[in-house]
Amino acid sequence: MDLTITSLVAACLSMAVLFVATKMIQQRPRTLYLYEKENKEEELLLPPVMSVVSVLTAYLPTLIAKGLPAVIHDLHSRLGSVFTVSVFGLKKVTLLVTAHFFQASESEIRQSNIYKVTVPVFGRGVLYDVDLATRSRQISFCTDSIKPINLRGHVDSMVHEVEGYFAQWGEDGVVDIKYEMGNLILLIANRCLLGKQFGESKLEQVSTLLHELFDNGFHLISLFFPYLPTPQHRRRDKARAMLGEMIHEAVRSRRNSGVAEDDVLQKFLDSKYINGRCMTENEIAGLLICMMFAAQHTSSSTSTWTGACLLSHGHRSYLAAAIQEQKRIIQQHGDRINWGILLQMTTLTHCIKEALRLHPPANLLIRHASKSFSVQTRQGHRYQIPKGHTLATCTTVGNRLPYIYKDPNVYDPSRFGPGREEDKVGGKFSYTPFSAGRHVCLGEDFAYMQIKVIWSHLLRNFDLELISPFPEEEWEKFIPGPKGKVMVTYKRRRLL
Ligand code: HEM
Repeated sequence: MDLTITSLVAACLSMAVLFVATKMIQQRPRTLYLYEKENKEEELLLPPVMSVVSVLTAYLPTLIAKGLPAVIHDLHSRLGSVFTVSVFGLKKVTLLVTAHFFQASESEIRQSNIYKVTVPVFGRGVLYDVDLATRSRQISFCTDSIKPINLRGHVDSMVHEVEGYFAQWGEDGVVDIKYEMGNLILLIANRCLLGKQFGESKLEQVSTLLHELFDNGFHLISLFFPYLPTPQHRRRDKARAMLGEMIHEAVRSRRNSGVAEDDVLQKFLDSKYINGRCMTENEIAGLLICMMFAAQHTSSSTSTWTGACLLSHGHRSYLAAAIQEQKRIIQQHGDRINWGILLQMTTLTHCIKEALRLHPPANLLIRHASKSFSVQTRQGHRYQIPKGHTLATCTTVGNRLPYIYKDPNVYDPSRFGPGREEDKVGGKFSYTPFSAGRHVCLGEDFAYMQIKVIWSHLLRNFDLELISPFPEEEWEKFIPGPKGKVMVTYKRRRLL
């Protein structure tokens, strides 16, 4: 009897699975396009399509427990590196785990309208509120402001902030390293981007306003209705207005003082458009807020993950190697830290790089197909992607591909070391936590620099141990970081 019921249940389940599977594969593409290549007409197919209802039916528990990347990972293994999810036939979202996502021209793949969500946060007249030529120029102002030659000058400011911050820790104690990293990264960003002008007194106000702005500016509803008069949007707008006023005041007082400082604010004051026009106060405020936003959560999350990975019990050998490297560098250079010395910290760099590979904070990059184009999958299919599709790639999936990374889910910084260099062997777009191609992050060097200043100081001056469980990922967030508190014990000691 039991057996019969069990068999019946098993049969029903199998039928349900079969039904879902059939629904999933019902998308096998119909031939839709005729494509002219080398004077031959080639028939091109649409990518496999799955309806959002089928995705939810099949993956709701995975979505809740493990987040969107786990669902995309599974769809990628089943359907290949290019597939489409149809949202009630109204919207088509095509996932591309291919190099083409990064290397296509702007006329084919452009940044999506979704970035309009940033307009009330960064302000009018900058970036996603202006035409492409102006935006490109403004991005080049940002890139120039923190290019390596300008970054060298920031090392001292970073070291100053880091030493001052950790001097406030006691002889020993317990801290939430995630909270500490959030605070410290904000201090560094304030100092390097806004400059000394925002001294202690204003710093706290700036930090509170930035939190208020970023926390209230990126709710799901903001993606679709960025100007809906919700309480969050009102708080966002109030914070933006106050922050804008503070930055405008700083710009005026810097211009009036005639004294040039070594910070990003100064670089923006000196930047000019092609026609020789300087940026307005409003444009400078917008770009500074954009840089603070782009730098803050990504860097503090990466710094926390680096700590969690190094300090977790399974990875103590990497911690030992990173400490050993600091000993060697101290023997050579003493306590001094500068640009060149930071470049010698290759073991630490690989530890950060591997934490980022496994936990990229910007894990879903979104674009728009501005014209129809074709793309070749790894499996050898060539698909036509119609104009108008929303395009996305998932860096969490792209950076764990088993044909590029050996044991892709294992934390193993040595995969980037001599003789392996898996990211390079894997090809140009194998490592994408900073994106790649046209919209690659312009703050990569800045990010590595500050995280290395922080972690080299910690490794040199403290014994540290992770006492909370290894953190899970905050999948429910648009820019995920480690979930909950990341508790660490510390005890002061000198390395040599
Ligand atoms: C670990 C730290 C960081 C990570 C993982 C990261 C990641 C990224 C990614 C994935 C993008 C591309 C977004 C897209 O394609 O839609 C991006 C863009 C950008 N990042 Fe970063 N970022 C980090 C730190 C920084 C820092 C420190 C700054 C500035 C000081 C910065 C400034 C920017 C800017 C301005 C852009 C826009 C570039 C453009 O649209 O052309 N980032 N970042």
